[in-house]
Amino acid sequence: MVAFNLPANSRLRPGRSHPAPAGAKQVREFRIYRWDPDAGENPRTDSYAVDLDTCGPMVLDALIKIKNEVDPTLTFRRSCREGICGSCAMNIDGQNTLACLKPIDEVKGAVRISPLPHMPVVKDLVPDLSQPYAQLRSIEPWLQSETPPPPDGERLQSKEERAQLDGLWECILCFCCSTSCPSYWWNGDRYLGPAVLLQAYRWIADSRDEATGARLDALEDPFKLYRCHTIMNCTDTCPKGLNPAKAIGAIKQMMAERQV
Ligand code: SF4
Ligand code: SF4
Ligand code: FES
Repeated sequence: MVAFNLPANSRLRPGRSHPAPAGAKQVREFRIYRWDPDAGENPRTDSYAVDLDTCGPMVLDALIKIKNEVDPTLTFRRSCREGICGSCAMNIDGQNTLACLKPIDEVKGAVRISPLPHMPVVKDLVPDLSQPYAQLRSIEPWLQSETPPPPDGERLQSKEERAQLDGLWECILCFCCSTSCPSYWWNGDRYLGPAVLLQAYRWIADSRDEATGARLDALEDPFKLYRCHTIMNCTDTCPKGLNPAKAIGAIKQMMAERQV
């Protein structure tokens, strides 16, 4: 059985309720998507009342507190807890973001949490990212050059060449953008999506890379690139403040210029 997450405003069947500890004064409810592939049941929403006076400020702090103190079966990914690894990407209060960078205070009322939308779910808040990772492999995200490096070992760039990579190298591959993109929802098997296209442009824009022509050839396809309709959800949601739509636009412009 495979569960697909539903849009964030969908109503799941109500699940278990976990009350706040006695004496808690600053209580906030967390409504969390739950699905266990081994249980053979449909997904549900469990409710957890958390005492914010004994919890860190971020949504990830609350999830860790719930797992440690209330319900060890709750499953989610996290590693760095400082917006670097991209593991804790999930949908919080209707927006894809990183749980470790999302302050609980920014959410009004109950904090609704579900996995990244429109992806198969492995368990609870863990999406199956096999497809976007396979797509990332397909764009060969590494430096390709026939020219050997100089004898002193480093391939140098001017400051201007290096600046071309700003806004690209910072991507942490959390896939918040791809899973917020309607084109990726409906054509994710053939459209590469904003995260992978931003990565593709990161290598196209690198002055040291000599595979630009082959990289553009590989993207010349009605689905891989041109399913982007500039809806901009990707840019709106990126928790690192990046602009995948701009990178996609730059690739399209290079395609158009080489056809002139
Ligand atoms: S701009 Fe393109 S990639 Fe970004 S959300 Fe819209 S269709 Fe998707
Ligand atoms: S562009 Fe932003 S949202 Fe998309 S994968 Fe990179 S860091 Fe995540
Ligand atoms: S835990 Fe690494 S980005 Fe959130």
